[in-house]
Amino acid sequence: MAVVAPSLLSADFGNLEKELKMLEKAKADLIHLDVMDGAYVPNISFGLTVIKSIREYSKLPFDTHLMISKPDKYAEKFIEAGSDLITFHPETSSNPIKLIKKIQSMGATAGICINNKIPIQKAIPYMDYVDLILVMSVDAGFGGQKFNEKALNKVEFIEKYAEKHCLAPIISIDGGINDKTGKQAVLHGADVLVAGNYIFKAKNPVKAIKSLKEL
Ligand code: DX5
Ligand code: ZN
Repeated sequence: MAVVAPSLLSADFGNLEKELKMLEKAKADLIHLDVMDGAYVPNISFGLTVIKSIREYSKLPFDTHLMISKPDKYAEKFIEAGSDLITFHPETSSNPIKLIKKIQSMGATAGICINNKIPIQKAIPYMDYVDLILVMSVDAGFGGQKFNEKALNKVEFIEKYAEKHCLAPIISIDGGINDKTGKQAVLHGADVLVAGNYIFKAKNPVKAIKSLKEL
């Protein structure tokens, strides 16, 4: 059974309450929140105010993916706004290990994200500290892009490295996930499947979630 994290980026922002209720009914496991600042990535999505105001519409954990240039400054505020997991891109932090520890000290789960074009070896310095590794299978910034198969080797690398070093980070994969690419990701060692378009653009989003959960 895969853990499924629908990415709200592809949802109907005119009716987030309805979307969140649907996700809970469909037994999604996490709500993936893509925060983009127009600086680290060429797109702007939503931020603290939106997260704070939707918190009351869902009991599911909020999995916040920070695609911002100053995570050191804002991570704490995103936890206060209701995030249970915080994932940031290590190249955006002046001291990633310090930030991981700060997130954990606030009782949240800390993850790092390895972007599509970044070699997976860049995760190694943080492996002893993080709770979660998010492997991007598209360039961070937009939903609806094509899955990059090279991400599968990255997932496998993390899985093998963790096993060899007696570590057990949660392995999550984000971008272009559907029932086929999701299956491949699970076979290579992914625990969490983040999916936006596959779920929200489906005729039946509940069914789409179920099809990923069953992988
Ligand atoms: C991209 C985001 C993803 C995105 C996934 O920067 O991190 O979470 O919303 O969307 P799909 O599943 O449509 O590729
Ligand atoms: Zn994401």
